[in-house]
Amino acid sequence: MSILVTGGVGFIGSHTVVELQNAGYDVVVLDNLCNSNKKVLKRIEAITGKPVPFYEADIRDRKALEDIFAKEKIDSCIHFAGLKAVGESVEKPLEYYDNNIAGTLVLLDVMRKHGCKNIIFSSSATVYGDPAVIPITEECPKGQCTNPYGWTKSMLEQIMTDMQKADPEWNVVLLRYFNPIGAHKSGTMGENPNGIPNNLMPYITQVAVGKREELGVFGNDYDTPDGTGVRDYIHVVDLAIGHVKALKKIEEKAGLNIYNLGTGTGYSVLDVVKNFEAATGVKIAYSIKPRRAGDVAVCYSDASKAERELGWKAQYGIREMCEDSWRWQKNNPNGYDD
Ligand code: NAD
Ligand code: WQD
Repeated sequence: MSILVTGGVGFIGSHTVVELQNAGYDVVVLDNLCNSNKKVLKRIEAITGKPVPFYEADIRDRKALEDIFAKEKIDSCIHFAGLKAVGESVEKPLEYYDNNIAGTLVLLDVMRKHGCKNIIFSSSATVYGDPAVIPITEECPKGQCTNPYGWTKSMLEQIMTDMQKADPEWNVVLLRYFNPIGAHKSGTMGENPNGIPNNLMPYITQVAVGKREELGVFGNDYDTPDGTGVRDYIHVVDLAIGHVKALKKIEEKAGLNIYNLGTGTGYSVLDVVKNFEAATGVKIAYSIKPRRAGDVAVCYSDASKAERELGWKAQYGIREMCEDSWRWQKNNPNGYDD
C-alpha cells in the first residue's frame, strides 16, 4: 500500500517524501508543478536511494485522479497541494478558492469513491487569526483570517471536520504548521520561492547571497521585547517527521485529530537576524519599514499535544534552522534552476 503525497515536489512535501521513504513507506507523488521544479525528484532519490513514482497532475483534474487511484494502491493521502502566497491570495481570491477548495473537494470525492478515507492535511497557524491565547493550544478558538489564503485553510478544516462527522470511517489529521524554515542537511533541497520572497527566512538568505540589498523589517513598534514580530520557526525536517508520526493516528483509525506543529518557542525578526549572523558569519543589512498589513504581533505554539499523542517533538533549534537554510541557498543561489 502507498501513501499519495499531493504537492510532494514542493518545499514541505519534498522533505516529507524523504522522511516517509526513510521510514520505509511506499510513496506516490502528485504535483502540477505550478510552484515547484521536477528536478526535486532526482534530489530526493539521491538522498533516499529509492525511486519516487511521480504523476504530473492537478488535484482539480478528476479524470487524472481517478486514473491514479485506479492504478496505484493508495492507503492514505498526505495533502500538501495548494497555493500559499498570502498577498497573491488577496489579489486573486477566486484562483485561491478554486485551487485550494475546489481542488480538495475533487480529491476527497475521488478518495471516497476508491475507499481511501485517510487524510493528513496541511493546515496553518493562520487559522487562529490574531490568537486569543499565547502559547496557542489546539483548543484556542479559530479566529478571523486576514486573507483568502487563510480562509481556504480554515474552510477546508471545517469541510473535513463535517465530512468525518458524517462518515466516521474517515480518519483525518489536521496539522497546523507554524513557520517552516530550514532545509535538508545535504544542502540539496530547500525552499525555492519565485520572485521576491514574501517570507522572512528566504528573504534573509537572498540578502546573504547578494541577490537582495537589505531586509525590510516590518515594524518595530509591536508589543514584544524588541518591538518586532515574534513567530514560532520550525525546521522543515522536524515538520516532515511530524507527518510520519501523524500516520500513527491514521493507523489507529483515530477519527479526527488536530495538532499544532511548532517548537513552542518564539523568536522576533531581529532574533532571527542575529541568530543567522551568528550561525553563518554573514552580516545581514536591514532597515525598519512600516508594519505589514495583516501581521499579528506574536504567534507561537503550545506543541505539547503532538508530543503527548504522537511522540513528536521538534529536535532542531534556531541555529540549525539558520545553518541549513544558508547551506541550501549558498550551494543553490538560483534554487533548482541551473
Ligand atoms: P509549495 O508551494 O512549495 O508546495 C505546494 C506544492 O503544491 C507545489 O509543488 C505546487 O506545485 C503544488 N500544487 C499547488 N496547487 C496544485 C494543484 N492544484 N494540483 C497539484 N499540485 C498543486 O508550498 P509548501 O511551503 O511546501 O506548502 C505545502 C502546504 O503546506 C501548502 O498547502 C501550504 O499552504 C501549507 N502550509 C505552508 C506553510 C509555509 O509557511 N510554507 C505554512 C503553513 C501551511
Ligand atoms: C515572519 C515575521 C513579518 C518578511 C506566513 C503566513 C502564514 C504561514 C507562514 C502558510 C513577521 C516579518 C517578513 C520580511 C519581515 N504560511 N518579516 N520582513 O507572516 O508569520 O506567516 O508564513 O500557511 O499563513 O502568513 O511569516 O515569514 O512572512 O513573517 O520583517 O521581508 O517576519 O512581519 O513578523 P508569517 P513570514
